[in-house]
Amino acid sequence: MMANTKNSAQSVRRKARQTIPRVPKADVRLLDAETFLLPTYKRPPIIFTHGRGCIVYDAKGKKYLDFLGGIAVNALGHAHPRIVRVIHREAGRAIHLSNLFHNAYQGPLASKLAEWSGLDRVFFANSGTEAIDGALKLARLYGRAPQDAPGAVPRKHRILAMENSFHGRTFGALSVTATEKYRLPFTPLVPGVEFVRFNDVADLEAKFDETVCAVLLETIQGEGGIYSVSEAFWNRARALATQRGALLIADEIQCGLGRTGRYFAYQKFASNPDIAVVAKPLAGGLPLGAILTTEAVSARVSPGIHGTTFGGGPLVCATALEFLKTIEDEKLLENIRLRGAEIREGLAKLARKFAFIREVRGEGLMLGVELSVEGAPFVTEAMNRGLLMNCTHDYTLRFLPPFIVTRAQVREFLRILELVFAAVSRGFSAAEYRPSGNSSRAAHASAR
Ligand SMILES: Cc1ncc(COP(=O)(O)O)c(C=O)c1O
Repeated sequence: MMANTKNSAQSVRRKARQTIPRVPKADVRLLDAETFLLPTYKRPPIIFTHGRGCIVYDAKGKKYLDFLGGIAVNALGHAHPRIVRVIHREAGRAIHLSNLFHNAYQGPLASKLAEWSGLDRVFFANSGTEAIDGALKLARLYGRAPQDAPGAVPRKHRILAMENSFHGRTFGALSVTATEKYRLPFTPLVPGVEFVRFNDVADLEAKFDETVCAVLLETIQGEGGIYSVSEAFWNRARALATQRGALLIADEIQCGLGRTGRYFAYQKFASNPDIAVVAKPLAGGLPLGAILTTEAVSARVSPGIHGTTFGGGPLVCATALEFLKTIEDEKLLENIRLRGAEIREGLAKLARKFAFIREVRGEGLMLGVELSVEGAPFVTEAMNRGLLMNCTHDYTLRFLPPFIVTRAQVREFLRILELVFAAVSRGFSAAEYRPSGNSSRAAHASAR
């Protein structure tokens, strides 16, 4: 039986070798990945093996400056000594104990998150999308009046989400994610969701009525191309939610926990949301998400109404607590603001030099450069030159470096990026320098 299984894996590999020319012959790891994984990602034929700080290395020993940070996860870079120490220590004590019991770290971590956010109560999940789903469930729970029969659709059940949003891949999060290429293959999605034009107060007012239980927004849209919510829109969403007994939910999965130079991106406004959702960097690279909310919402929650097996285990919570304390102890918010300003200044200089740069956007260490040409060739060229970054919505280069990035690394980043811009643009035809005629993008930009 074993022999048969092995033979069949070998024959699948042999066949794959003939059909996947991108994979170097010798590397069975790449061949296995291309052969046996579901093809949900289009990856370059490189294996990354380890990292230190803001540097990552591939299997051939090539060094990359990491300005993607695992898509905003590796906020303390790679192998940060404090994170490594805690993981070692806790792995030898208890990785998992079950949510049927208390562990030593959930309470202290919840307390620290409450202190940072100005909210009161926390639920731990395993990922961003799962935390978003939990937040949507809390909104539906909050909207339910005592006279609403169990199982009946309550009057207050609609969720207003934003155009150009991204909240994750599970059904709930996908239902409030606007991008059609993610949504349409999976319809029908969760009913009761309507999209509002981001930062369009009139559209929000028109769609907000007594049937709305929540308005959900990313304080800074990440995947959508680095667009910040305006103060006017935030204030109106806050006021309407309060007047109509609905919840304001801030998705801070990408922009929260320090990335903007504030603990939470919404802290530049005068008011708090009713729910803030975090994940990505929270546990220093281990999977952990959290829903933070108020006492008023918490009052609707009872044992058994929501739960998870893995969420909030002792290893991840201890690591998350260390992550938050490291940000405080090492005064990283200040570093984020200073390095962010240097990067912006450098990008603005590049924008004066290269006509295909349309706009530089973002705050702190969450920055985007919108191009009038497709961004993918720049990402490839950057990788060839030892710089990791990514492109979102086809035209926006996105930079999410670790919070520990140094001034010298910022200079190095700007130096490589300039070479990348110059190298790729040498291959442009004159027509490509003109602003693209992509209508959805043009319409999107005009909304701001
Ligand atoms: C703003 C935002 N919300 C939600 C998610 C989903 O998080 P996860 O991939 O951990 O499920 C992401 C992931 O990119 C995100 O950027």
